[in-house]
Amino acid sequence: MDQSTPKTPNSLSLPWKTRIELWLLGVGIDLITRKDGTVNRWLFNLVDFKTPPSSQPINGVKTHDVMVDATRNLWFRVFTPTEYPIQDLPVIVFFHGGGYITAHPDSAKYDDVCRKLARELPAVVVSFDYPLAPEHQHPTQHDNGLDLLKFLDNEDNRSKWLPNANISRCFIAGDSAGGHMTHHVFERASRLEFEQLKVIGLVLLQLFFGGEKRTESEIVLDGTAPILTLKRTDWFWNAFLRAGDRDDGIVNVSGPNALDISKIDFPPTMVVVGGFDILRDWQIRYYQWLKKSGKEAYLVDYANMFHVFFLYPELPESDQLISEVKGFVQKVLNKVG
Ligand SMILES: *[C@@H]1O[C@H](CO)[C@@H](O)[C@H](O)[C@H]1NC(C)=O
Ligand SMILES: *[C@@H]1O[C@H](CO)[C@@H](O)[C@H](O)[C@H]1NC(C)=O
Repeated sequence: MDQSTPKTPNSLSLPWKTRIELWLLGVGIDLITRKDGTVNRWLFNLVDFKTPPSSQPINGVKTHDVMVDATRNLWFRVFTPTEYPIQDLPVIVFFHGGGYITAHPDSAKYDDVCRKLARELPAVVVSFDYPLAPEHQHPTQHDNGLDLLKFLDNEDNRSKWLPNANISRCFIAGDSAGGHMTHHVFERASRLEFEQLKVIGLVLLQLFFGGEKRTESEIVLDGTAPILTLKRTDWFWNAFLRAGDRDDGIVNVSGPNALDISKIDFPPTMVVVGGFDILRDWQIRYYQWLKKSGKEAYLVDYANMFHVFFLYPELPESDQLISEVKGFVQKVLNKVG
């Protein structure tokens, strides 16, 4: 794996439908992210198509929404597969992407992906609605992620809301900003004592990491790769972080001010990257940092794919990714027995 030679951007070939959607998404991001640092929520909600919860199975999965704390409007959606008579399913806690500023568990594309994961793995998927920036800034999102884990560790909550699940077989998965959140929530959770909850694996899909100094992939792919540009990622980080210091170990996670993770009991971790993602080099650096720290990590490289490609079901790579996650989850489960 050579992180210093990203692809030439003009070789990305995609169906027209996907291209048009990606172009619209780019225009949409630029329209909702105002110059004064606020998000146009009205406009965002207009184009954020929602899927309601459904107690009748759709594609073999039923869903319901659970309130963690009404005063903070913290809730999650549970995806339970119905075609398997299995008790004792693993739990996938899922943190969605969206630059910390957009998307929810009921956003149609995220609802679809979580539904597929629940059915194919199979697993009970818990997709969390954390508060968004800039209305809420760091560390609120990570604090609330921990609150979710504590809520799921509670016996009463579990028997009421996740009766088919075994929380000792818990994975945390996230894409983009949700992957960034996965790393930090896990790292903080690793210092807590839980009754039953045990995180046995991490799935990090195209992590949103960064630093002050630009990487090669950021420079080469900026302006030509879909979805993310430097202007947009800078905007997202400024919305999320009050101080704006990107080298404090929160953003540049594996950088010079990084935490020593060699003593943390890090579970097996799957790191997924794409060839046309400006964040590619940060993600590979993170993977290399895990390896260097003696952790069990797997790198999966979709050389012809862009940031959050798996949200586009018309691409065969989207289903391949689900199979890849399934393989990883099975491998980890076989080990813990
Ligand atoms: C839950 O999973 C753990 C770890 O895999 C296992 O030891 C335990 O027996 C499981 N619990 C039940 C009720 O099957
Ligand atoms: C971020 O982290 C990398 C190591 O992964 C380091 O080389 C770099 O100096 C850090 N800071 C910046 C400014 O990117």
